[in-house]
Amino acid sequence: MRTLLIALALATLAAGCIGAESSEPPVVGIRNMYNQPRYDTQERQPFFADQRSMRPQVAGTVSQEMTKGFAHATGLAAQSKAYIDEVPRVIIAEFGTREAIMARGQDRYDIYCAPCHSFSGDGKGMVSRRAAALGAAALVAPTFHDDRLRHIPDGQLFATITNGVRNMPSYAHNLPVNDRWAIVQYVRALQLSQAPAAATENTEQSQ
Ligand code: HEC
Repeated sequence: MRTLLIALALATLAAGCIGAESSEPPVVGIRNMYNQPRYDTQERQPFFADQRSMRPQVAGTVSQEMTKGFAHATGLAAQSKAYIDEVPRVIIAEFGTREAIMARGQDRYDIYCAPCHSFSGDGKGMVSRRAAALGAAALVAPTFHDDRLRHIPDGQLFATITNGVRNMPSYAHNLPVNDRWAIVQYVRALQLSQAPAAATENTEQSQ
């Protein structure tokens, strides 16, 4: 009888926990993953004189991107600070052939750009369509097949991916320098491939 009572009490206790909401932290046997010996962002810490846990860069630090050269890392000519017209030949050479840089560009574009700009670059990717449906016009990606974007220099396309533009975020953290140039090359191919269709569309719209 006693065993039965104990079993019943335990069962009631266990049932009480399941599905019940609580503001207390969960009871966990081994807490190593919860209590990590680390500092949080902005947290004060006594080790350094200024007590900041976020440390500034060591003086003279050069970003890995800049080791390729200013123009390669920014899309701007070193002297004039104007956008460079074409993907630097050195970058194409690093891929080996035009076909190789194009293939890499397509691969990265389809992953990182197509969700908004669509596979053909007409700006009707899934995210844009969703934004349009929700009435968030400012988050709808533009088509690449208009005259202005067809004529911006390669360096400006590169800088757009690198720094972002207005409502579009930067993709510099996801895409190393060479991949960004490869995407530029591929966007140019997309623009060429859609040029006749876009020309017809433009005429239809203006009628
Ligand atoms: C999360 C959605 C999203 C993704 C992903 C995205 N874009 Fe955009 N893109 C936008 C939006 C939105 C704009 C319009 C920004 C604005 O005008 O506020 C834009 C604008 C642009 C423009 C036009 C810039 C100008 O001068 O007007 C270019 C070029 C561009 N994107 C290229 C790319 C490339 C290349 C990629 C992939 C690396 C990419 N985008 C990924 C949403 C996105």
